[in-house]
Amino acid sequence: MILRVNKNFNTLKGIVTIPADKSVSHRAVIFSSLAQGKSIIKNFSDGADPHSSLEICKQLGADINIDSSTITIVSDGKLKATSQPLFCGNSGTTMRLMAGILSGQNFDSTLTGDESLSKRPMKRIIEPLSQMGAKITSNDYRAPLEIKNSNLKAITYDLPIASAQVKSCVLLAGLFSDGTTTVNEIYPSRNHTEIMLKHMDANINYSNNQISISKSNLSPLNIEIIGDISSAAYFIAAGLLVPNSEIILKNVGLNPTRAGILDVAQKMGANIEILDKKEICSEPVGDLKIKYTPNLQGCEISGELIPKLIDEIPIIAVLATQAQGQTVIKDAQDLRNKESDRIKTTVTELKKLGAQIEETQDGMIIQGKTKLAGGICTDSYKDHRLAMSLYIAGLITDKEISVNDFEWVNISFPTFEKLITELYFQ
Ligand code: S3P
Repeated sequence: MILRVNKNFNTLKGIVTIPADKSVSHRAVIFSSLAQGKSIIKNFSDGADPHSSLEICKQLGADINIDSSTITIVSDGKLKATSQPLFCGNSGTTMRLMAGILSGQNFDSTLTGDESLSKRPMKRIIEPLSQMGAKITSNDYRAPLEIKNSNLKAITYDLPIASAQVKSCVLLAGLFSDGTTTVNEIYPSRNHTEIMLKHMDANINYSNNQISISKSNLSPLNIEIIGDISSAAYFIAAGLLVPNSEIILKNVGLNPTRAGILDVAQKMGANIEILDKKEICSEPVGDLKIKYTPNLQGCEISGELIPKLIDEIPIIAVLATQAQGQTVIKDAQDLRNKESDRIKTTVTELKKLGAQIEETQDGMIIQGKTKLAGGICTDSYKDHRLAMSLYIAGLITDKEISVNDFEWVNISFPTFEKLITELYFQ
């Protein structure tokens, strides 16, 4: 579907509640299926990706009831064999987390994905899982993954890349292994797995860049999912870029391993205030007040900051086109392995709009501030984050733009367009 970006506003004003975090929703439904008893998840994500995890948990025997955004899961803590392949859709998180869990079960299973997921690298999980004794066959280290029943043994694993999916995969396999599994990170990546498993009484310990886990009986979960900072990022950018905007984003997850966009906003001199900070199930959350900032400054984004904002780089690139001077994004080569090659796709599409932006091997360099012309149809490459970033760019282009394959926003944020247009103010 080609969507024309609606430019029927003068400015953005109002309050929006940010929908549930995708990463936390995946973990909540998957871990609850491993717990013995009844778990209740409130405000579960309506994104297609967490629903891929949910469907797989059902297929593996969890009794799951959905009532609007509340999900009840009853499980005896043991997954059941299925002869059918387990379809992960577009979701890398589903495939990588489930691969860790399924490697340690006493039955065989097969994980499949859509066209995009079937091209994404799985060597990063197959290698450590094989070291633990897993038996996995793949299509040249890509899905489908056929996982044979095996007995796992604990390992100590130094993650070669900062990836929460790989970290979580190894830790979840560690839950079904003899001995204590330890994972060492280069840089901290999102720690929702560690926080939630601890909350569920797992034998898990973490400090700085090291996490250890062993076999555990998980207690059921009772959780209200926090708002997704990766979804909030599009509204943050919109509020900063559209002249005279003033908006409040409610219920935004502020976990420091996820909130790199706020560090960048601060470096750029953005006018953002955090209001009403609190904790929900050990995850920090707050409201953000965003005001139009005409004098944003370019900055460098690299190293330890990258895993904290990995999914936000396309929208940060849009912000950088409107910041004075140069913005350099480096150490982000893994962006090439996402739902699209996000270095290439972001640079190509923003260039079409008139941005001064160049691709590098591990990131991009953007010169600002440039007028974005528009008047064209851009391509989302069936990548939800590209689709939303281009929509926000379209709010500030001289002429109207459209976005091809816009419906892919449903992967993480089906209500994106509805919520952004609710802020339109004449
Ligand atoms: C995620 C981790 C990140 C992120 C993805 C969600 C997770 O992937 O890009 O959208 O929920 O653990 P990597 O671990 O591959 O960096």
